[in-house]
Amino acid sequence: MEFHIKDPGLADEGALKVEWANQSMPVLNSIRRRFEREKPLQGVVLGTCLHVTTETASLVETLKAGGADVYLCASNPLSTQDAVAAYLVRHREIPVFAVRGEDTETYYSHINAVLDRNPTMTMDDGADLVSTIHRDRPALADRVVGGTEETTTGVIRLRAMAEDGVLRFPMIAVNDADTKHLFDNRYGTGQSTIDGIIRATNRLIAGSVFVVCGYGWCARGLAMRAAGMGASVVVTEIDPLRALEAVMDGYRVMPIAEASRIGDFFCTLTGDINVIRREHFLDMKDGAIVSNSGHFNVELDIAGLEEASVKRRPIREHISEYTLADGRRIYLLGEGRLVNLAAAEGHPSSVMDMSFANQALSAEYLVREGATLDRKVYSVPSSIDREIARLKLAAMGISIDTLTAEQEKYLCSWETGT
Ligand SMILES: NC(=O)c1ccc[n+]([C@@H]2O[C@H](COP(=O)([O-])OP(=O)(O)OC[C@H]3O[C@@H](n4cnc5c(N)ncnc54)[C@H](O)[C@@H]3O)[C@@H](O)[C@H]2O)c1
Repeated sequence: MEFHIKDPGLADEGALKVEWANQSMPVLNSIRRRFEREKPLQGVVLGTCLHVTTETASLVETLKAGGADVYLCASNPLSTQDAVAAYLVRHREIPVFAVRGEDTETYYSHINAVLDRNPTMTMDDGADLVSTIHRDRPALADRVVGGTEETTTGVIRLRAMAEDGVLRFPMIAVNDADTKHLFDNRYGTGQSTIDGIIRATNRLIAGSVFVVCGYGWCARGLAMRAAGMGASVVVTEIDPLRALEAVMDGYRVMPIAEASRIGDFFCTLTGDINVIRREHFLDMKDGAIVSNSGHFNVELDIAGLEEASVKRRPIREHISEYTLADGRRIYLLGEGRLVNLAAAEGHPSSVMDMSFANQALSAEYLVREGATLDRKVYSVPSSIDREIARLKLAAMGISIDTLTAEQEKYLCSWETGT
């Protein structure tokens, strides 16, 4: 079996980490048990490009249990947990191509190693697998029945491809399922981003001014958690509705040009480019701590920060210190890559349980329905979304009410008034 990982000797350490994560993934585990019996993915060659974390290990094991031939590469150079990669190779015989800290050339060689297996289905987090097929290896597209996409930024890229008429196979936007973004983006990113910032810095959040750039699903979660820890939260936005929502949720809202002067912590979660630029870095207080939790490392103008600095040194694991000409210091976390994966372990498994249940059931759906779908971006069928919510509630031991016949009739009628 071909693979490229850091150290197969880490496999036993990885096994314990995966076992721990798995304990909080009841929905995915129930799907795995069914997949083992029914083998709905038999014959599928599944190219997966995901953050190589403990939860991803549970997902790829589920896909393999369903009969798929699974190959895995990383969806970010800094998010791989090397022990997990070793576990998958040594204990589960799943070929993995991922080494934490790999350079850009190696990152793409790993994507191509997965594509060399001629996948018939793709599973992406950020659309790098799909865009590499379309850009560099278009002949592979003919074999692909469809693919799934995990994150907001990937879905944006795929919609742009579909609009330009270049998308060659149907894609399922897992991110847009309610059981994904309402929980993973909001509570998962909220908690794990704070976790990454604290693990990297060990600084006190209470009493600080915490600037959150964006007020989408991820940013709402981070703002909520930072406020809960006693920070005074400032939000920057470009969308008037989201900005208004942030105001009514109790946060100060202002342009980044103003926020940059007062923040102690900054974190971008927008999916946009150059949200914090050179001029903003130049306005920051001595000791400002800057990070990104959006998908790509383009949200911070790191080149601009480098140009404006007279000195750069690593001061602590995951932290680079940049000194400006007048001596002020700016601290950049995790090279501007998603701080929750670079400096912590990504989302807690109990939210990934739902995200990856969507992935597994969407893969099964593509086997059944892929041939009937157009070259478009589709939502996860609502029946899957609701089933995952139902299974999650059941696993948590929570039951809910059902509509009475009278209520069902009332909710479908228009005649009844005062
Ligand atoms: N760190 C993680 O583990 C993780 C998890 C899920 C998603 N993501 C990524 O996080 C990013 C955000 O995802 P989301 O689901 O919150 O997206 P979203 O579309 O819900 O929110 C993005 C928000 O950013 C705002 N925005 C855009 N440009 C801006 C700018 N220049 N200044 C201020 N605000 C701006 C938009 O108006 C929008 O409200 C994406 O790149 C997504 O892929 C990361």
